[in-house]
Amino acid sequence: MLDGRTTLSKFLIDTLDRRPGPDAASGLSALLIDVAASIKTIAAALTRGALGGQHGSAQSVNTHGEEQKKLDLVTNEIFLQHCEWDGLLAGMVSEEMDEVYAIPETYPRGDYLLAFDPLDGSSNIDINGVVGSIFSVLRRDGEGDARGAADAAAFMRPGREQVASGYAIYGPSTMLVLSVGNGTHGFTLERDVGNFVLTHSDIRIPEDSCEFAINASNERFWEPPVRRYVQECKDGRTGCRAQDFNMRWIASMVAEVHRILMRGGVFMYPRDFRTPAMEGRLRLLYEASPMSFLVEQAGGLSITGRERLLDVQPGALHQRVPVILGSRHEVERIQRYHGEYDRGEDKPFTSPLFNERSLFLPETEA
Ligand code: AHG
Ligand code: MN
Ligand code: MN
Repeated sequence: MLDGRTTLSKFLIDTLDRRPGPDAASGLSALLIDVAASIKTIAAALTRGALGGQHGSAQSVNTHGEEQKKLDLVTNEIFLQHCEWDGLLAGMVSEEMDEVYAIPETYPRGDYLLAFDPLDGSSNIDINGVVGSIFSVLRRDGEGDARGAADAAAFMRPGREQVASGYAIYGPSTMLVLSVGNGTHGFTLERDVGNFVLTHSDIRIPEDSCEFAINASNERFWEPPVRRYVQECKDGRTGCRAQDFNMRWIASMVAEVHRILMRGGVFMYPRDFRTPAMEGRLRLLYEASPMSFLVEQAGGLSITGRERLLDVQPGALHQRVPVILGSRHEVERIQRYHGEYDRGEDKPFTSPLFNERSLFLPETEA
C-alpha cells in the first residue's frame, strides 16, 4: 500500500504500460525508470559536494570547446552505465561526447534513442548552486536494420516527435519533471526511501507573467526585437507595458525552466551576433527540444524567435538554436516583435527616442 501516493513506477505503468491499443509504448516505462536511477545516483554524488572530491576542472574540453568539469564527466558516465544494458536503446547522444555512443556488443539493442545533458548549469557546481540533468527520448523509425546501432542520422528528427522528455533539478530537494505526451508532471525524491513521488500533477504555466530571464551581459549582441521586448519590460509601469517586471538569471536552463513551470515567466537565450556563425547558445537535441516539449505540454510556448522550436529540423548532433520559451502571451508578443522587425514595421518602437521616454509611443500599443 502506497498511502495513496503515486510513485514514478506506478505513474509510468498506469500511463504507458496499461495504455490500450497500438499506442502502447513498449519498454518506455522501463527506460524511464533507468533514467530515474541515473538521476538518483547523480543526486547522491552531488549531495556530497566538496567532500566527494569531484569538484573542479577535468582539464579537458567538450565538442563545443567548453571546459569540462570533473562532474560533467562523472554524470555522463552514470547515465551511460544505467541505460546501456537494458536492451531498450539503439544509441545515446550527450553534450559530453563528440559522437553517438554505440551500445556495447555485449548488450541487446532496442528501438529508443536517448539524448541528454548530464549536468546542466555546471558552472554552478563549485558555488553550490542549482544544477540539473536534461533528457530526450525518440523512437527510431522502422527504416534500415531495426536492431543495428543508431548513427547520427537517426537523431535528426524534430522535437515534436519526442516520445518523452524531462529534467532533474538538484536543488534543496531533487525533482524529476517529465512528460510522455500527456501533460507535464513533477516528482519529488523521497531521499531516505529512494522513491520519486508524484507531487506536481499536470503542471500548467500561467499565460501571463511579469518575470523574464536573460543574460543581459549579451545585450549589445541581441537582435532589435529582443532589445525592444527587454527594454519595454525594464521601462516598467511608466513604459508602454504599464506594469513593473522582475528579472532572474541562474545560469542553469533547468533552474529557469523549473521556475517558469512553477510560476510563469519567460526565458530567453536568443539569437545573437557574438559569434556570427553561432545561432544561439543552447543545444537543440538535449537542451532546447526536451525543454520545449515540457513547456508545450504545460500550456506554454517555445520558439526560436521566428518559428516553433519543436518544428526545427536538426542538421547536426550538437547544433545550437535560439530559445525563447515560457508564458504563452509573452512568447506570442516576442514572436510578433520578430515578425514586425522582419517586415520593417517596428521602427516607431525601436528608435532610440522611443526607448528613452514613451513620447513616440503609438496609441495602438497597450
Ligand atoms: P551547460 O552547463 O550544460 O553547458 O549549460 C549551461 C547553459 C544553460 O543551462 C544556461 O542557461 C546557459 O548555459 C548559461 O549561459 P551563460 O554562461 O551565458 O550565463
Ligand atoms: Mn546545459
Ligand atoms: Mn551540461
